[in-house]
Amino acid sequence: MKNIHVAIIGIGAIAEAVHLKYLQENEHVIVNALVDMDLERAIAVAKKHDIPYAFQTIDEMFAQTHVDAVLICTPNATHIPIAKKAAEQGIHVFIEKPIGTNLEEVEGYLTLAKEKNVITMVGMTHRFRRDVRIIKEYIDNNTFGNLYYAKAKLFRGRGTPKGWFTNKELAGGGALMDIGVHVLDLAWWLMGKQDVQSISGQTITGLGNYETKYVSAWTSKNKQLNAGQVMDVDDFASAYIRFKNGAVINLEIAWAIHGEQDEGIQLELLGEQGGARLTPLTIYKEENGIQTEVSPTYVDGDTFKEEINHFVHCVRTKEQPLIDGEQGNHILKMLLGIYESSQIQKEVVY
Ligand SMILES: NC(=O)c1ccc[n+]([C@@H]2O[C@H](COP(=O)([O-])OP(=O)(O)OC[C@H]3O[C@@H](n4cnc5c(N)ncnc54)[C@H](O)[C@@H]3O)[C@@H](O)[C@H]2O)c1
Repeated sequence: MKNIHVAIIGIGAIAEAVHLKYLQENEHVIVNALVDMDLERAIAVAKKHDIPYAFQTIDEMFAQTHVDAVLICTPNATHIPIAKKAAEQGIHVFIEKPIGTNLEEVEGYLTLAKEKNVITMVGMTHRFRRDVRIIKEYIDNNTFGNLYYAKAKLFRGRGTPKGWFTNKELAGGGALMDIGVHVLDLAWWLMGKQDVQSISGQTITGLGNYETKYVSAWTSKNKQLNAGQVMDVDDFASAYIRFKNGAVINLEIAWAIHGEQDEGIQLELLGEQGGARLTPLTIYKEENGIQTEVSPTYVDGDTFKEEINHFVHCVRTKEQPLIDGEQGNHILKMLLGIYESSQIQKEVVY
């Protein structure tokens, strides 16, 4: 298997800290180019990390150099237009979450990617966590039996990001799109990727643009896109999602609340013969007719590293990624269903 040449599109906060670092640590990867609408930043980061090329657009890159795969780390609404350009050239694609913001656009891209035999992976990082993998192993060994309910929650105290994340045009939505995507994906994947039947949801802008003292926030690197501090998205969302097999996910998400902050995703999974909880990782079942709680012992892995290495492996072997574009699309359909239900103040039935 040959080594691969890759480019990162959007070398902002996450790409420099995560994608670039782990791509450069992977012995099978040559990072050939960085692309960013902020060309000065692309050039500066390329120089700092010894990367041969820096460009302002993906078209300029295609005209001057070849890559086997791109990793798209730009604002959410730009993911699919960029992915389409890569797929047209037969180039494999990693798309940061969420896959996109518009279902028709995503479906058009997926058709193109299939025609061109392009691999698509979506950055659902939490699937690579060790504690999550342990729960998945219990599920795959059928320890829990039929899973019928998941309560999935992530509340931040003061965690609204700064920049384009709060601008609907660029982000497609707020807390639900940004962190709800991870929480919903985790519950949906662990419950066996069921087909959605109906969604009832409410999205709310509760605290909006707050000015709380002595708190920090995740901040986008792009000053131009962040101008004006637009805040026209939700910072709270709650949803009740029914699936065709009778299972239910109850979702609660917040960027900012007057309440207690969760230390990571809170998940309770209920099955007919057992269940699981995050965080801390706890397994519930019966042994010899006795109710038991198990706390598995494990060493934490480097979740982002495992995610990036998985993408590289899939591009090199042409294996299907753990989170392909179709799954990313199913999650987007549910997220948009929650927004629709909130807007029409009714349950959305599929
Ligand atoms: N998996 C995770 O846990 C995780 C964590 C953080 C961010 N993300 C995702 O990563 C993406 C980027 O987030 P970020 O925090 O790095 O944002 P950011 O604003 O810091 O970085 C985005 C970069 O893209 C550039 N850009 C914008 N539009 C472009 C275009 N059309 N062409 C080329 N470059 C363009 C910007 O100049 C900026 O440098 C988002 O989709 C976000 O949801 C995922």
